[in-house]
Amino acid sequence: MTSSTTPAAKKRILSGAKPTADSLHLGNYIGAVRNWVDMQAEYDAVFFIPDLHAITVDFDPTELAKRTRIVAAQYIAAGIDPDKSIFFVQSHVPEHAQLAWALNCITGFGEASRMTQFKDKTQKSGADAATLGLFAYPTLMAADILLYQTDLVPVGEDQRQHLELTRNLAQRFNTRFGATFTVPEATIVKERAKIYDLQNPSAKMSKTGESPNGTIQLLEDPKIAAKRIKSAVTDAGTEIRFDPEEKPGVSNLLTIYSSLTGKSVVELESEYQGKMYGHLKVDLADVVVDFVTPLRDRTHELMADPAELDRLLAHGAERAREIASVTLAQVYERMGFLPSFSLAGVR
Ligand code: TRP
Repeated sequence: MTSSTTPAAKKRILSGAKPTADSLHLGNYIGAVRNWVDMQAEYDAVFFIPDLHAITVDFDPTELAKRTRIVAAQYIAAGIDPDKSIFFVQSHVPEHAQLAWALNCITGFGEASRMTQFKDKTQKSGADAATLGLFAYPTLMAADILLYQTDLVPVGEDQRQHLELTRNLAQRFNTRFGATFTVPEATIVKERAKIYDLQNPSAKMSKTGESPNGTIQLLEDPKIAAKRIKSAVTDAGTEIRFDPEEKPGVSNLLTIYSSLTGKSVVELESEYQGKMYGHLKVDLADVVVDFVTPLRDRTHELMADPAELDRLLAHGAERAREIASVTLAQVYERMGFLPSFSLAGVR
């Protein structure tokens, strides 16, 4: 007898990142984007920009369009390969909104009311300021995931409850209407490395730090990035040592250095033994410039050729719809919707 071994199918992962800033920053890249880029080799990857989610809170249409473009260009520039992975904009694939509606109708009102993200947001601005869209945020996210028969969803700890709801809805649907959805695994990924504000290393690097000098925007002039590294807050003493408690500033610089070069922190510690903070900063400034320059150039290239960017996103949406439309058709059929035939086919 002959035995043939077929390679095990790759697991499907899916993740999304909202277009909420005018540029990604270095903390986004090191903490998350890089993970996506690396995961493309091992998994069957689906990545998208959840612009439908972006309108669940106050937004500006011009800003949304601009940010969606920039974020798309930055992800591609950072190494998301639109041929390898499926990469698209959520609103280009209408099945997301369609499945979300179906899921809304099997989700309890109380169940949705218990979602902590909704509670937090309405506590801040009051229930009257919140929209129905914000309330339905989690079911749209469940639709994002379930449409693609996703195995793993790499997200941060703050998304854990959304994943639990997604699993519950998948199981509920499968029990009531027949096996339809893969029940995704909650894969809470610890950020590979957390990057802190350069001016206030006890806070995470963010788009809204107290001082703009604390953040390295990936689209800014590399000279500014170099300056920000050189003027980063360091700590008392002189020793270059990784010690986040005693030396949060220097430790943050070592983390950035290690992340961008692949050298381990231990290696760096010994390389910089006996040297001064200034040496570390000058070298790291070069490392950061070498990293951001090509990334920024590639992003600008894509932004300068909107037709090419549109084409890449259309290609992604097409590939996404091939999968999403099959899932949605099953869902509709199982829920009892009549098939809709096109007149062209009947005549
Ligand atoms: N809610 C996620 C966030 O705020 C973004 C998101 C939307 C997402 N749909 C998703 C993440 C599906 C993973 C899978 O980060």
